[in-house]
Amino acid sequence: MGDDAIQRRLDNLRREIDRANYEYFVLDQPSLTDAEYDALMRELRDLEVAHPELASPESPTQRVGATPQAGFAEIQHPLPMLSLSNVYNEEELRAWAQRASRFAGGSDLTFVAEPKIDGLAVALTYVDGVFDHGATRGDGFRGDDITQNLRTIRSIPLRLVAVSGAPLPRVLEVRGEVYMRKPDFELLNARIAESGGKLFMNPRNAAAGSLRQKDTRITASRPLRLFVYGLGYTEGGEAPSSHWEALEFLRSVGFAPSPDAKRCGSVEEVWAECERWQARRDTLDFEADGVVVKVDDVRLQEEIGYVAREPRWATAYKFPPTQATSVIKDITINVSRTGALNPLAMLEPVNIGGVVVQRAALFNEDEIARKDIRVRDTVVVERRGDVIPYVVKVIEERRDSSQVPFAMLATCPACGTPTHRAEGEAMRYCPNVACPAQLREKVHHFVSRNAMDIVGLGEKLADRFVDLGLIHDVADLYRLDWDEIAALERLGEQSAANLRASVEASKNRPLARLINALGIRHVGERTASLLSDRFGSLDALMKAPVEEVNAVGGIGRVLAESVVDFFQEPRNQEVIAKLKQAGVRTADDRSSGGNGFSHLSGKTFVLTGRLASLTRPQAEERLRQAGATVSGSVSKKTSFLVAGEEAGSKADRARDLKVPIIDEAEMLRMLNGADATASEEIGSTDGAAAEVVLP
Ligand code: IVH
Repeated sequence: MGDDAIQRRLDNLRREIDRANYEYFVLDQPSLTDAEYDALMRELRDLEVAHPELASPESPTQRVGATPQAGFAEIQHPLPMLSLSNVYNEEELRAWAQRASRFAGGSDLTFVAEPKIDGLAVALTYVDGVFDHGATRGDGFRGDDITQNLRTIRSIPLRLVAVSGAPLPRVLEVRGEVYMRKPDFELLNARIAESGGKLFMNPRNAAAGSLRQKDTRITASRPLRLFVYGLGYTEGGEAPSSHWEALEFLRSVGFAPSPDAKRCGSVEEVWAECERWQARRDTLDFEADGVVVKVDDVRLQEEIGYVAREPRWATAYKFPPTQATSVIKDITINVSRTGALNPLAMLEPVNIGGVVVQRAALFNEDEIARKDIRVRDTVVVERRGDVIPYVVKVIEERRDSSQVPFAMLATCPACGTPTHRAEGEAMRYCPNVACPAQLREKVHHFVSRNAMDIVGLGEKLADRFVDLGLIHDVADLYRLDWDEIAALERLGEQSAANLRASVEASKNRPLARLINALGIRHVGERTASLLSDRFGSLDALMKAPVEEVNAVGGIGRVLAESVVDFFQEPRNQEVIAKLKQAGVRTADDRSSGGNGFSHLSGKTFVLTGRLASLTRPQAEERLRQAGATVSGSVSKKTSFLVAGEEAGSKADRARDLKVPIIDEAEMLRMLNGADATASEEIGSTDGAAAEVVLP
């Protein structure tokens, strides 16, 4: 390659990777698999090593610095970072709006309502469109310089996209909240728990702890994200005249603004938004502790003004608290299906934010010791969305002399086997593979709706089978003696016959369900379906080494190791052999068209742009069901590029490679059974014919 060609390739790679980050972290619509992303990064890194003179600080390879920082320097905010007043109910919200309107000379006001994200406030400064520095809020006037750590967050653009028409301001300060998603937080804590480290209390805590690391490599390994909610200081260029426009501008240059912000024409509408967010609170995948309401018009904002360090033109409606106090009645130990001993606090029932809480997770013995949690203690309990309630702390002042320190069981509460705690691990396990408590949990999971879906086999009946010694592993479900079952007290002939039919039917479940049903540590529905797509049969999956499992997009190292460990265990191999012997399907037959939907097998599709009738995941799912392979990037092997609205660079690449480009309607036609080869011929004759169907 000549110098020009190398520079062009570098630019292309950097642009593609920036775009992939944007699609993944901001749009939440990844178009590359992890393996494809890694391959691009590797190529870029190699090229930069070979040509150090072409390095650039804005390159995606430069997100992580190598040497720990000594401390954080201070940065003065060009405009102070303010705080918000709070309102706690509709009446207070109305009073706030009335006051704002009075200061605006009695004008009717338009508002914007958006979630109050519970993370860490940051200010990012861009100079000529390039990320220059970033700081924490600090005392509002001066914050810590955390530029190097912020650079590792992939939803933060290192370079802004200039919007056609409006030039970027020369200096642009953007304000937002760094946060961690709830599922990411739980995974992170699970990882920390396994290695015996100290758990984070909540996503906010985890985000704060991760961002204030001296070693950027640690920050880089943490799943942090950024939502932006406004502009700070700007210089040059025209400032937006409303908050709404500011959010749109931020979105257009590459940021993820507060999700689902809404413009409201009246206080009634604002209050409806507050109630809507509060109702949705538990289902959000990020923590929100309220709704921020802002007067939309920037000119009116200035008129309405400030009191002390709070704007009068904005306020925060705070959700009801998520903490309460209760008393621990007992600490019980649950044995999970992997044999882990999970301590649980049994509480005096207490209402937290409309939900009665009676139990709280205590995680492991180290956590109990660290917080010194004892039976009969009065404790602060917190409930946040779908995270299980947990004990925040003990109120020591409420102690009398009746509490004694907790001692973890030395033997399994279900089978009496001495428990075992490996060095460096926080969890204690029951090592008995035949432990009835583990078996019960395994069976519950195996028969559940999203696994083998054995209708009619509820948890009580399953427990009865285990306790009566009728089953010793999940495969025994397929070897039940049906006469014996029919003779069981309170069951009867008809129920037994029905149950037998559903056990029979479950032999034919798709592979993904079977993989999920096996109860491999860390493997849920999504991973099971990735594994099934990639390997197609249990045999192939069982033979795969860690590297191969790890190479599946979306499957990390910890998960891959867990999968391989599971299949290496002789006990598990035995169960699988028994399942096969009983006639349980362990492979998805894709070539025979056995399910009637595999007429697109052998075809590779790539999707780009926005589709009108299906979401990206829906379209991918339907293509896969039809036997097609879905890939993230266009190559010579691509059969069709499906171009939706605003198709980007992939369409160019498809044209270069003479890959036929089809529209959504054509894809749907193929999915509904039209032959893929016919259209392939139409499209592949020349690029011009293909272009016609592009929107
Ligand atoms: S606006 C002048 N919008 O809440 C208004 N703040 O109590 C300044 N926060 O320090 C803030 N989500 O860290 C605004 N959508 C949102 C927010 C938000 C979270 C945080 C922010 C600020 C604190 C104010």
